[in-house]
Amino acid sequence: MDKFVITGGTALRGEIATGGAKNSALPALAAALLTEEPVTLKRIPKVRDIRTMQRLLVDIGSSVEVDGETVRLHTPRITSPEAPYELVKTMRASSLVLGPLVARCGRARVSLPGGCGIGARPINLHIFGLEQLGATIHQSHGYIEATAPDGLHGSVVNFDRITVTGTEDLMMAAVLARGETVLRNAAREPEVADLADLLTKMGARIEGAGTSVIRIQGVERLTGTEHEIIADRIEAGTFLVAGAITGGDVTVTGCIPEHVGALVAKLQQAGASVTQPGDTALRVRASGRLRSVDVTTEEYPGFATDLQAQYMALMTQAEGIAIIVETIFENRFMHAQELARMGANIRLDGRQAIVAGPRELTGAGVIASDLRASASLVLAALVARGDTVIDRVYHIDRGYEKIETKLAQAGARIRRVE
Ligand code: EPU
Repeated sequence: MDKFVITGGTALRGEIATGGAKNSALPALAAALLTEEPVTLKRIPKVRDIRTMQRLLVDIGSSVEVDGETVRLHTPRITSPEAPYELVKTMRASSLVLGPLVARCGRARVSLPGGCGIGARPINLHIFGLEQLGATIHQSHGYIEATAPDGLHGSVVNFDRITVTGTEDLMMAAVLARGETVLRNAAREPEVADLADLLTKMGARIEGAGTSVIRIQGVERLTGTEHEIIADRIEAGTFLVAGAITGGDVTVTGCIPEHVGALVAKLQQAGASVTQPGDTALRVRASGRLRSVDVTTEEYPGFATDLQAQYMALMTQAEGIAIIVETIFENRFMHAQELARMGANIRLDGRQAIVAGPRELTGAGVIASDLRASASLVLAALVARGDTVIDRVYHIDRGYEKIETKLAQAGARIRRVE
C-alpha cells in the first residue's frame, strides 16, 4: 500500500491546474447507459472511483475506451443490469446506475451500499423516487431489485431531504419516462446541472436543473453525444486551502470560481487575499496569521461538506476559536483525531468541532480514513514541522488525480512511497 511522505514548512508558490469533477464524471458515465449510441466524455479525471465505475459499466454491457482524459462509452445492449456488492461497497456512487438501468431496460438489481466511514449513506430516497415513477422495488439478500416492465411514468417526487446522487439518479430515470416528472427539493449542486447539460445534448427535455425544482418531459429515446465535464470544485478548493495554510501564493487554474464561492468568502474573512486573475482562475495569497472563522456545512451553494476536513486543517493554524458544524453527514470528523496526533487542539461535541488555534503541528505517522479526511492530513502535513507519513493513501487516490505531483509543482515536498 502506498504512503505519502511529506516534509512540511514550505510556502507553496505557483500554478496548480484543476481536473474534471469526479462527482460530475460519475453520473455522466452512468448516463451513457441511457442510449444505444456512443457517448464521448472529455475531461474525465484519472481517479480510482472513475475506474470502478468504468468496471461496473463493462460488467453491465458497455464497451469503454479510454484515451487520456477522453472516455468513449457504447452500450448497444444491456447484458447484465446489475451492480454487485463487490463494486458498490468500494464506491457508493455505484447506485447511480439504478435509474438509468430501470429507464433503459425496465429492470435493475443493485447492492445496497451499507454504511461507510462518513455516515450511513442510505439510498431510501432513490428508491422512493423510483416507486413514484412506477417501479416496483423488492429487497432481498442485500440487493434491491427494481422492475418496471411497462416502462416508467412521470410523477411528482418530493424529496424529504436534499440528496445529490438521488436527484441525479431520478433525473436519469425520468428522462425516458412517459410524461412529465417534477423533482422538488432537488439538489442544486453544479454536478446536477452538468448532468442535465449532458442529458439535454442526448435529447432529454429538462428545465430547472441547478434550482430546487427540476421539470423533465420524458422522451422516447436518447442519442449519443459529446460532453466535457466541469472542473472539480472540491479539488480547486483543496488547492486554495493549500495556498492559504502554507502562507503561500497559489493560482488555481481551470476552475469555475463561482463554484467555490462559499470557501472563498471564508478564506477572505480569515484574512487571506483571494483574487480572480481570469474567468477560470483564482489566486490565493496569505501572509501573517489567519483569523479563526466558524463554518457550517450546507448543501450547495452553502459551504461544501467535501471541504470541511480541509478547512479544519486550516483552522488549526488560525488565531482564535473556530466552530465547525457538519450538518450533512453524521460521522465526518475522523480527521480530527489524526490532526490532534499532529498537535492540533480540537474538541468534538456531536456534530460540532471546536478548533483552537494556532497550534504548531509536528510531523507524525497518520492514517487516511476517507477521501476528504486524507486531503486534510496532506494539508496539515504541508505546515507541520518535520516529516509526516500518511498511510492508506488509496483513499486519496479515489478522488484526487496525482495530488502529489500537482502540489510538488508548487513547491511542496511530498513523495509517494510503496
Ligand atoms: N440521504 C438519505 N437518503 C438517501 C440519500 C441520502 O437519507 O436516499 C442522506 C445522506 O445520508 C446524507 C444526506 O442525505 O446525510 C446527503 O447525502 P447525498 O445523497 O446528497 O450524498 P451522495 O449523493 O451520496 C454526494 C457526493 C459526496 C458528497 C455528498 C454531499 C457523489 C458521487 N458524492 O454524495 O461526495 O459529500 O453528495 O454533497 O456525488 C466525496 O466526493 O468525497 C463525497 C463523499
